Amino acid sequence: MSQTLRDARKYEELSETRIRPEDRPAFHLTARTGWMNDPNGFSYYQGEYHLFYQYHPYETKWGPMFWGHAVSSDLLHWRYRPAALAPDEAYDRGGCFSGSALELPDGRQLLMYTGVAETCQEDGGPQAQTQCIAVGDGLDYEKALTNPVIGSADLPEGCSRYDFRDPKLWRRSDGSYACVIGSCTEDKDGQILLYSSRDGFRWEYETTLAKNNGRFGKMWECPDFFELDGSWVLLTSPQDMLPQGMEYINGNGTLCLTGDFEEKTGQFTERTDQAVDHGIDFYAPQTVLTPDGRRIMIGWMQNWDTCRLEKTEMPWFGQMSLPRELSIRNGRLIQQPVRELEQLRTGRVVYHGVSVSGTKVLEGIRGRQLDLEVTLYPEEGGARCQRFVLCFAQNSQYRTSLEFCPASSVLQLDRSFSGSRRAVIHQRRIQVTSKNGAIKLRLILDRFSAEVFVNDGEQVMTAVIYTEQEADGISFFADGEVRMDVVQYELQGDGTASE
Ligand code: FRU
Repeated sequence: MSQTLRDARKYEELSETRIRPEDRPAFHLTARTGWMNDPNGFSYYQGEYHLFYQYHPYETKWGPMFWGHAVSSDLLHWRYRPAALAPDEAYDRGGCFSGSALELPDGRQLLMYTGVAETCQEDGGPQAQTQCIAVGDGLDYEKALTNPVIGSADLPEGCSRYDFRDPKLWRRSDGSYACVIGSCTEDKDGQILLYSSRDGFRWEYETTLAKNNGRFGKMWECPDFFELDGSWVLLTSPQDMLPQGMEYINGNGTLCLTGDFEEKTGQFTERTDQAVDHGIDFYAPQTVLTPDGRRIMIGWMQNWDTCRLEKTEMPWFGQMSLPRELSIRNGRLIQQPVRELEQLRTGRVVYHGVSVSGTKVLEGIRGRQLDLEVTLYPEEGGARCQRFVLCFAQNSQYRTSLEFCPASSVLQLDRSFSGSRRAVIHQRRIQVTSKNGAIKLRLILDRFSAEVFVNDGEQVMTAVIYTEQEADGISFFADGEVRMDVVQYELQGDGTASE
């Protein structure tokens, strides 16, 4: 093991003792110490889920990337393992960028990641990005002597050598290996390259799986590609997107393309496109297939453009989203909180048919670790509702809100008053489907975040909030009249400890 990795392991072990469990989320994963971005190597190995992440242990800001590591048996109770990879070789000294993992037939775990030789060349220009591998036992990993295994010379003509990253591996039905890699043309138009290998170690370019053709932003990062309910799904996170109506608003966000895939020819025929998350903080997701056949996605619960929202005194920065179960309904990607979450539920409080007109507070409905479902339906014969507002993380000073306008079917998330002292983006609006003003909202709160699942996962809005934990009030408001059902559970979690 290199001195760089040894030092980081020693540092994180000491440094994490300074973080009180109550200063972390209860069931969302954070960096063991310091900075976290993308999920990496999300996989099931030796009877547990493994989740690695882009990691800079020494500061709460981005720096030369390590891979942090955590394991879990239910995707909600995580335990830290020591850092898995360090930027300690000539070909990755600028960082071990994002990548993925799978199990080899001999029982070892294969990691594939992007190596960046230096953050910058001497003349300030970028460095070429290459794909590298490491093999290990779930704890320690050894980089291959043959690294990089995919270099600039393996790129098809016209591709940028500087934007070529984030390999996502899978095993094909014939036992061979494949991976998709984010790329762009020399003039910065995003595309996804497909490579294949017989053994996981020697790789060949196969085809260009998808091309942006100027539609969704520029460079396409962090691809994932899998079959789901009879369709093929390509997830990728484009940089620098232009908004289209209320879609693709975040500049950097995640795009979902569905279509058909011909494994033999490597041809992907696109059918639909949609934004994956309509909130503020969600990027670079990765999926895993569970032993019982569910496709679970986890994302970095952050956006590069809003990182300044941070609470400066916190010894960690960056959280993973809730793991989400994916499915396809009517050609659209549906996301639901992973069903394991139900095991964290306690203290059920239920209200049926509550009439709201003006402001309403309900006894027992409050908290910052919650699974709260609100079903709204129009009040028969009542005054038409112009505006319905659900406020949470609320006290006399703070609140975050979800505001629904039945006439336009627009739902707005607003964290302007969540305690932020920064002029970053705080609001997002989406068009939802609603019949006569009926809508179902499921809100998951975990101390420093809010994830809103609309109409059983048709749309999701995610945002981090650093509001003081004392602000735990919830209130409802209707301009006009509306009826609602409310079901609330508290969610118990133990935070993340080390093994
Ligand atoms: C996405 C990303 C990846 C890259 C990593 C570097 O958030 O830019 O493309 O591998 O972060 O930390």
